[in-house]
Order: sequence, then C-alpha cells, then structure tokens
Amino acid sequence: MKHLFQNKLFRITLFIIIFIFLAIQFIKPKLEISSQSNDLSLNPALKQIFKKACYDCHSNETNLSWFDKIQPAYWLVAQHVKTGRQYLNFSRWDSIPKTVQKGVLFESLNQIQFGTMPLGSYEKIHPGSKVSSSEVSEIEKYLSTLITNNPSDSSVINSANRQYNNWLQHQALNFATAPSPNGIEFIPAYKNWKAISSTDRLDNGTMRIIFGNDIAVKAISNKNINPWPDGTIFAKAAWAQVRDSLGNVHAGQFIQVEFMIKDARKYASTHGWGFARWKGVSLLPYGKNKLFTTECMGCHQPMKNNDFVFTMPLTFK
Ligand code: HEC
Ligand code: HEC
Repeated sequence: MKHLFQNKLFRITLFIIIFIFLAIQFIKPKLEISSQSNDLSLNPALKQIFKKACYDCHSNETNLSWFDKIQPAYWLVAQHVKTGRQYLNFSRWDSIPKTVQKGVLFESLNQIQFGTMPLGSYEKIHPGSKVSSSEVSEIEKYLSTLITNNPSDSSVINSANRQYNNWLQHQALNFATAPSPNGIEFIPAYKNWKAISSTDRLDNGTMRIIFGNDIAVKAISNKNINPWPDGTIFAKAAWAQVRDSLGNVHAGQFIQVEFMIKDARKYASTHGWGFARWKGVSLLPYGKNKLFTTECMGCHQPMKNNDFVFTMPLTFK
C-alpha cells in the first residue's frame, strides 16, 4: 500500500477520481419537491401506506435519504422519481378524474401484489417501504367499499338480460367489425371457446369471463404454459354487474372484449402478444393508433415471469 502511494501515477489517478467524485456532487438534476395538501384524499390509514411505500417516486413529497443524495446514486434515483411521477403523481390526485381514480388504485394494488412496486432496487435499500399483507388487505377493503351495491330496478335488469341474450346469439355473427389500429382482426368465434376463468373486479363492479382457444386449452392440459405456445389466444369479455333486490348478480351492459394472441415472432415488439380490444355492443376498435398497446403492456408487466398472462392454470380446474 505504502508503495502504491509513492507511485506518482497512482497518486494522480487517485486525485482525479476523488476530484471527479466531488465535482459530480455539484451537478445534480433538479427535482421539484413540495408538499401539498390536495394529494390522495383517502382514508388516513391508506394514505399512510402509499406515503411510506410510494411517495418518494410518485409524489412531489420526495423524501430522499442521505445515501440517495450522493452521486452517482442520485442520478439513478432522480431518474426513477421523474419517470415514476410521470406515470402516477399522488400530489396531483385531484387532477385525475374521479372515475379513473378507482382504476389507478386498482392498478396500484396489482403492482404491489405482483411485487413490481415499490421497485425492487429501492425496496432493498429502503426496507421500511415494504407493503405488508395486512396493508394489502387494507387497500382491498377500501376498494371494495367503492363499489355501489345499490340494487338496480327491474327494468335495468330486464334490459341487461335482453342485451346479454342478444350478445350470446348475435355478436358472433358480427363480421362487419373494423380491425384494431394495430391490424388485428376481430375474432367472433371466441364465444364458442372454453371459459377458463371468471373474475369480479373489485373496483368497478364488472364481471369478466376469460376464454381460451383450443391451443390454450391444450397447453394447459400439457402444462406447457410458460411461455404459452404460438397460436394461443385469450379473449376477455366484460359486462357491468347489476344486482337485483334479492342480491343476485346479473350480467348488465356489455362493456368490451379484449384479445391476446401469442406469436413470439410476429408480435416480438409487444412481448410476443398481439393485443386488441373492441368496446361496447357495437364493438368499436379501441385505440387512436397502434400505440394503445403500451397501456395493455404496462398493466400486464407485473406478470412478466408468467408470460404476461394474469390468469393462472390453477383456476382452470
Ligand atoms: C424507486 C421509485 C419508485 C417507488 C418507490 C414506487 N414506484 Fe411505481 N413506478 C416507478 C417507475 C420508475 C415507474 C415507471 C414504469 C417502470 O419503470 O416500471 C413506475 C410505475 C408505476 C405504475 C404504472 C405502471 C404502468 O406501467 O402503467 C404504478 C401503478 C405504480 N408505479 C405504482 C406504485 C405504487 C403503488 C408504489 C408503492 C407501493 C410504487 N409505485 C412505488 C418508480 C417507483
Ligand atoms: C388496468 C390494468 C390493465 C390494463 C390497462 C389491461 N389489462 Fe388485460 N388484464 C388485466 C388483469 C388484472 C387481468 C386478469 C383478469 C382480470 O382480473 O380481469 C387481465 C387479463 C387480460 C386477458 C386475459 C388473459 C390474462 O392475462 O389473464 C386479456 C386477453 C387481456 N387482459 C387483454 C388486454 C388488452 C388487449 C389490453 C389493452 C387494450 C389490456 N388487457 C389492458 C389488467 C389490465
């Protein structure tokens, strides 16, 4: 060691390194930091959870630790905060339309449950940010209170039933449907596929059925589902839920049908899946242009170790 320090080249290099280290402490991208009162107007317990786990990157109340502020770590942190705020900024909660807020909370719950948020690299050095399972149920409980369970009157139910029957009988014949902006054609045959799962969505009271084509069903029985083989197609159809005075749930207004078509090559740029969605009874293709798929991919991202598919084979049995 002593020898090293006597070496002039070593001393100069060391000096340069220290100099650069000190110098970069002064070049820091600016992060707007402010505290605001119009953030997340939830119940206080819930806000506490988001505050400790998410606010550093998803609000203007970023509270960095001293070790986050040292360069070059700070560059990375600042980048995460900037992108994080672009996706979701709790300080601007009021600017998110009321109807969308529930969906954002639901997506946040998904991201937490599948372990993608808070970011792993962040959670490692900020262990206090981990969301515990009791906190997860707290969020679930809150979301379930947002569903309005008022019984609908019988005319609503009758018209919903009529529409459902209509869907069963006629939608398959609707060949005039325009293709999705990414070129994918509507697949009317999905209604004859096997229903492999159904779910209720907590936040907005919808009822969903997920259908799989023959290749999907065969892949399940062969336990060959990660990755799913080329040719697999899922369809997810959603209806609003209506509840009659006895508390029975009926399928209401047809909301949409979405597809995921597996072709690892053809759809390489979208995780190997072709995404498409048609909305309403009139089956209008969703998306202004083909970039609509970034929205699909963003939400399916937490399932990347499951070939981006949420539906688990366990629920198939
Ligand atoms: C260390 C910074 C950081 C923390 C902490 C963090 N996030 Fe994120 N979050 C990001 C970044 C960066 C993105 C942008 C997408 C990506 O890189 O995955 C993001 C994206 C998101 C998205 C949008 C996902 C999408 O692709 O549409 C949601 C929802 C989200 N975060 C929720 C949360 C929740 C809820 C928490 C707390 C439990 C949290 N995040 C904590 C950095 C963070
Ligand atoms: C807000 C988050 C979110 C967005 C955005 C989203 N999905 Fe999904 N998707 C889910 C969830 C969660 C499931 C699991 C089933 C359920 O709970 O309804 C799912 C399931 C599916 C399924 C059934 C296969 C599976 O993964 O279980 C298809 C098909 C599908 N989505 C297509 C799409 C398409 C096409 C888009 C974009 C137009 C899209 N999704 C956008 C959250 C999302």
